[in-house]
Amino acid sequence: MPILPIVTPPQKILRQKAQPVSAFTPELQTLIDDMVETMHAAPGVGLAAPQVGQGIRLFVAHLLYDPYHDPETDEPLPPGVGKVLVMINPQLSERSDEKLKGTEGCLSLPGILGEVMRHKSLTVDYLDRYGRKKKLRTYGWMARVIQHEYDHLDGILFVDKAVEVWEDEEVEGEVAE
Ligand code: NI
Repeated sequence: MPILPIVTPPQKILRQKAQPVSAFTPELQTLIDDMVETMHAAPGVGLAAPQVGQGIRLFVAHLLYDPYHDPETDEPLPPGVGKVLVMINPQLSERSDEKLKGTEGCLSLPGILGEVMRHKSLTVDYLDRYGRKKKLRTYGWMARVIQHEYDHLDGILFVDKAVEVWEDEEVEGEVAE
């Protein structure tokens, strides 16, 4: 499985609205596998299809916390135990009024970090890689990753929403999405 090149500005695909996935083909499965490998190699915790030049509503994320519990009160999953989430045609709902500020980076914007306000919790309805309907209610850090990745599907980058942005040569892989 090849590692895919990650798209950076000014490539227009990062700024375009991605299209829904309609066919769960072998090519889609290969793309998903390649995106997971690319995310891990970067390293990063999330990667959206437009970041590898594919204008479709798909992202992958690496769960570092149990997504069904509040990461503010739960221990992170042990190293190597975290699992990969594949979300296709995601729909966000039940966003909490409460927002949290947190630091984000992006694999498409290397060397840049920012503080971004995100809903503390939300619900995602999505299709898994086989087209099965799924629903996830999630909180805190994982909700942040999902909001960041979802924005990529609408051509939005975290710097558009950040309340503060700065340059950091040593971007922590843990926050790169
Ligand atoms: Ni990103």
